[in-house]
Amino acid sequence: MSEQGKKQEGQMGSYAPFYDIIMFLLTLGREQKLRQEEIRLAQLKPGDKVLEIGCGTGTLSLAAKTFIGTSAEMTGIDIAPEMLAAARKKAARKSAAVTFQEGSIAKIPFPDKRFDVVICSFMIFHMPEEVRLKGFTEIYRVLKSGGHLFIFDGDSKNPRYNADSLVPILKERSFTGVEADRYKFIYFKAFFIRANKA
Ligand SMILES: C[S@@+](CC[C@H](N)C(=O)[O-])C[C@H]1O[C@@H](n2cnc3c(N)ncnc32)[C@H](O)[C@@H]1O
Repeated sequence: MSEQGKKQEGQMGSYAPFYDIIMFLLTLGREQKLRQEEIRLAQLKPGDKVLEIGCGTGTLSLAAKTFIGTSAEMTGIDIAPEMLAAARKKAARKSAAVTFQEGSIAKIPFPDKRFDVVICSFMIFHMPEEVRLKGFTEIYRVLKSGGHLFIFDGDSKNPRYNADSLVPILKERSFTGVEADRYKFIYFKAFFIRANKA
């Protein structure tokens, strides 16, 4: 149960003990390679202040921290306390200074203009639509001017679950330079979007 005392729709706490195994199987043992590809496509830079929303067990946040460097700030938020506990355990094992804290995309627990990059990996469709819509407004709020959002997810033929459904919404919410593309990892078809805050 979350600190707020109720389970929010889309939270995946019950997956926490198995999530890394699922990713190992889905990536045929190459999860770290996939994470490096996400970091490249997200156009992270050493020194960036980065927020991952829906960080799950923290694998991407930890890989991103290694890339952005010891003095750079990496934070992961999730609504599932079980996921956060697993992420904190991994960070402790690696002595990695990544902050994992509870929070929803719909109410990001940070002040305005705080981050250079916000990442949403395999999470943007794991929530009701009204949460996602609030989330984009929230992401815009916490990004610095000149910062950007990066979304990565499995591609789908269903137009409700692919980049086509997200691009117009991001444009409506004042994001600029919104670009979407497809990406294939081994057999796995994905899409990604980068969108800037001017
Ligand atoms: C499939 S996992 C993705 C984990 C990780 N980002 C990755 O790349 O493997 C989706 C995560 O999003 C979280 N989540 C779902 N709805 C959320 C919301 N409204 N705000 C923040 N996190 C959310 C879930 O609890 C889950 O940990």
